[in-house]
Amino acid sequence: MNRTALRPLIFAMSFIAMALLGSSLQAQTAQDSAHLKDWWKNAVIYEIYPRSFQDTNNDGIGDLNGITAHLDYLKELGIDAIWIAPCYPSPLADFGYDISDYENIAPEYGTLADFDRLVAEAKKRNIRIMMDMVMNHTSDQHKWFLESKSSKTNPYRDWYVWRDGKGETATSQGEPPNNWLSEFGHSAWQWDPTTRQYYYHKFYIQQPDLNWDNPKVHEAFKNIMRFWYKHGVAGFRFDAITTLFEDPTLADEDYVRDKDGNIIINAAGDKQTDGKKTEFLPQVDDVMQEMRAASDAYPSNKFPGTHLFVGETYVPNIAALAKLYGTPQKPEFQLPMDTQIGLETHKLDAAIFRKKITEAENDLNGNPPLIVFDNHDNPRLDARFGDGVHDNDIQRVISTLLFTTRGAALFYYGDEIGMKTTPPTRKEDVKDPVGILMWPKYKGRDGERTPMQWDDSKNAGFSNATPWLPVPANYTTINAKAEEADPNSLFHWYQKLIALKKTNDAVANGENIMLDVNNPGVLSWERKSATGVVVVVCNMTADAQTVDLSAAGNSAPKTLLKAHAADPQSLSKIELGPYGVYIGQL
Ligand code: NOJ
Repeated sequence: MNRTALRPLIFAMSFIAMALLGSSLQAQTAQDSAHLKDWWKNAVIYEIYPRSFQDTNNDGIGDLNGITAHLDYLKELGIDAIWIAPCYPSPLADFGYDISDYENIAPEYGTLADFDRLVAEAKKRNIRIMMDMVMNHTSDQHKWFLESKSSKTNPYRDWYVWRDGKGETATSQGEPPNNWLSEFGHSAWQWDPTTRQYYYHKFYIQQPDLNWDNPKVHEAFKNIMRFWYKHGVAGFRFDAITTLFEDPTLADEDYVRDKDGNIIINAAGDKQTDGKKTEFLPQVDDVMQEMRAASDAYPSNKFPGTHLFVGETYVPNIAALAKLYGTPQKPEFQLPMDTQIGLETHKLDAAIFRKKITEAENDLNGNPPLIVFDNHDNPRLDARFGDGVHDNDIQRVISTLLFTTRGAALFYYGDEIGMKTTPPTRKEDVKDPVGILMWPKYKGRDGERTPMQWDDSKNAGFSNATPWLPVPANYTTINAKAEEADPNSLFHWYQKLIALKKTNDAVANGENIMLDVNNPGVLSWERKSATGVVVVVCNMTADAQTVDLSAAGNSAPKTLLKAHAADPQSLSKIELGPYGVYIGQL
C-alpha cells in the first residue's frame, strides 16, 4: 500500500488516539479538580502556636521564618494544612487573640514578605496555610475601638457594643447592664469614664466585642478575608465564633446550679451563668452564610480549590454541630470542630467514644466531622487521658481514633512527639493572665504552650535566647530529632497513621461502622468503601484483651499497623496488650 492509500487510516487512528488522550486528560482534570475542591474532606490540619514553634532571630519568641524552616519536617509527617494561631500585630493581652491590625504581621513574628515566602515554600510541599480569623472582638488598641471610645457620636461608636449602666448618676457609674460574665472572669461589661457607658467584652477587658448588628463590620471582615486570600491563604479558623451576638434585650442569664440547687461558683469566684443570652444566637448562622458566600465568590489563587472555613465551635450536642455546616444552598463551615469527641471527653471510655463517633457518622447529614483532641487552650493529651505509666500507648490509641475514623483531623504541634503539659509551678511565673487571676484553681494555658522540643541541645533547639516560656526538662528524651531516628517512636506512629489515611481508600473514604458494640473496654470499628474494608481495634484499658469480631467476616486480616497486638489468624480472636491497637485490611 502506498502512503496516499494509508492516509485515511492514519488520520482515523490519530483521531481515535487524540480522542482517547483528550478524554483521559479530561477525566484526569475532572478528578484533579474534584480532588482540589474537596481537599479538606479528609484533610490533616496541624495547629502551630507561632510563639512557641521555632525562634530564628534570637529573641526567645517563635516566628514565621521558624515555621518555614521546618516545612520539610511537616511534609515528612504528612500534613495537608497548617493553621497558624494569630500572628497579627497585637498588644498581647491574650497572646495575639487581641488584634490591633488585621492586615499585617506582628514584628516579633516577621513581615508580610516572610508570610508570602512561607506560603510559597509550603505550596512547594503541597501544604496549605490557614490563618486565625478573630471576628468576635478586636484589641482595645485597634483603631476602630480607639475611635469608638473617643465619643458617643464618633462614626465607629456603633462598631462595638456600648450600653448604659443600671442606676447611673452624675457621680456614680451605677451597675453593669446585667449579670453577663467574661469567659476570663468577672463582669463582661467595662465602664468607660470618658463617654460614661459600658462596653461588652466576652473575653479580656482589652478585647471589646464587635457589634455584628452593624453591616459595616461585616464588610470590614470580608475585606480582611480577601486581603489574606490575595496572600494565598487556603482558609481560616474562626475564633470564638459562637459568641458573635448577644441578646438585644440584655436580660440576665440564669445561674448554673449543682445537683443540690446551689449556684456554682467558678474558678474566678463568680456565680456561674449559663451563657444562654450570649452564645449560639441564630444570627451567627446568618453571618457565616454571608461570609461563606463572599469567600466562595473569591477566586482562589495560590491553591486552586475550595477555601476552607474551620470553626472554633464548642458545641453542647451533635444537633448544634450539625447546624453549623449550614445547608447545601446556604453553607456555613465546611469543618466546624467536633469538640464533643476529643475536647469534652476526658477519659478513655469505649462506650462514650462509641456513642460520640456514631453520632458524628449518622447525625451530621453526611458532612465530614473535624475531630480535634488538642489545642492551645486545653491541657495536652497526657494531662487529660494519660495515666502517667502508659502515656505514649494511650496516645497511640487517641491518634488512632483521630486519624482512622471518618472525616478530617486536627492536631496540635508537639502531639506527634508526645509533648507533656508543663504548667508553671509558681504564680509569679505565669504568663497567661487568666492563670494569674484564677491561680491556683486554674493555672492558665502556659502549660500547653511551651516551646516545641526539636532536639536535645540548649533550649531544645527552639531558641538561642531565653525562651518566652521555659522548655520542659524532659526535652532531652522527648524531642523530634530523637523520635525521627527511632522507627518505633510516636512520631513514626503518627506518620504511618497519616499515610494510611491518605493512601488507603477505605480509611480515606469508607463508612464508619462500629463493631462489638457492647464491649466496655475495647473500641472496634470498620471502615468500609467500595474497594475494601479495614478493621480498627483499640484497647482502652490497662489489661490485656481478646476480642471476637467474626460478625464482621471470617477472613484473616492483613495487618496494616499495630501496637501491642498479635497478628490474628482470624477475626474471631484479636489479642491486644494494655492500650494495644490493631489495624487490619480484610
Ligand atoms: C479562643 C482562643 O482559642 C483562645 O486562645 C482565646 O483566648 C479566645 N478564643 C479569645 O479570643
